[in-house]
Amino acid sequence: MNTFAAHWLKRREAFDHAARSKALVTALLGALPKAKPLRVAAFGAGLGSGMRFLAPHLGPDQRWTLIDNDLSLLRQALTFETPHGVALKTLEMDLRESDYRALDVDLVTTQALLDLVSADWLVDFADWICDKNLPVLAALTVDGRVNWHPPHPLDQTVQRCFRAHQLTDRGFGASPGPMAAQAFALALSKRGYTVTMARADWKIGRQSSPMLTEMLTGTALAATEACAGITTAQSIAEWSQDRAAGIAKSEVSLCVGHLDVLGLPPS
Ligand SMILES: C[S@@+](CC[C@H](N)C(=O)[O-])C[C@H]1O[C@@H](n2cnc3c(N)ncnc32)[C@H](O)[C@@H]1O
Repeated sequence: MNTFAAHWLKRREAFDHAARSKALVTALLGALPKAKPLRVAAFGAGLGSGMRFLAPHLGPDQRWTLIDNDLSLLRQALTFETPHGVALKTLEMDLRESDYRALDVDLVTTQALLDLVSADWLVDFADWICDKNLPVLAALTVDGRVNWHPPHPLDQTVQRCFRAHQLTDRGFGASPGPMAAQAFALALSKRGYTVTMARADWKIGRQSSPMLTEMLTGTALAATEACAGITTAQSIAEWSQDRAAGIAKSEVSLCVGHLDVLGLPPS
């Protein structure tokens, strides 16, 4: 099972919120049911960051269900200040089981979930959403674009290994990795949904050294795990050392590509 440290989810929250597409939120608003309360499910909710981004845009009388299989994260999610107008509950559930199909909601949301799941799971999830005729906003799926600045001669080697890691099984079976947003969008559009995608890139500036250091450590670890061979491991170690030195001197910045997907049912 994949576990996500609370400190990492907290660290990324500001970058997540800054990256997310405001245009897709505006487009979603026109498609929401007028009846209140608005029942919203957040799949793979973690500490509830996705709700804290979206809820302030959705008006009064919202009922959110934060769904995750990590009870510790859900418990911590309840310790954050709840956005105005939100009634909140948590649901411990393993999304690999099909129990989520029994949920009765008006809006489906995810944030940073789709690149963890398998291609089959994405299609089943899309089918359930379409069967229920629900709008869906699936945010922050990595799309494989990673640009460290300034460039380093070993960037490509490290990225090749990192990309291989993104295709591994993160609990749901082999992942479509950077193609996950497209796979999800295709599954929705095959069912007649109107799908809009928008870039939602993390822009991590030179002054954000704690986040850059997390990204460096995570990238090096994943790349080393995914690539066999002493030469490659040495290259990754050399890259890490140089990048760490650059981060310490505030010379390094990073852009990580993500896509947000909005799916609206046929009217
Ligand atoms: C990258 S984190 C994103 C968390 C949160 N949405 C955010 O943006 O901060 C992925 C989340 O998916 C949850 N997750 C992973 N596998 C799961 C599963 N099988 N069932 C339910 N949740 C799962 C993790 O516990 C984690 O909270």
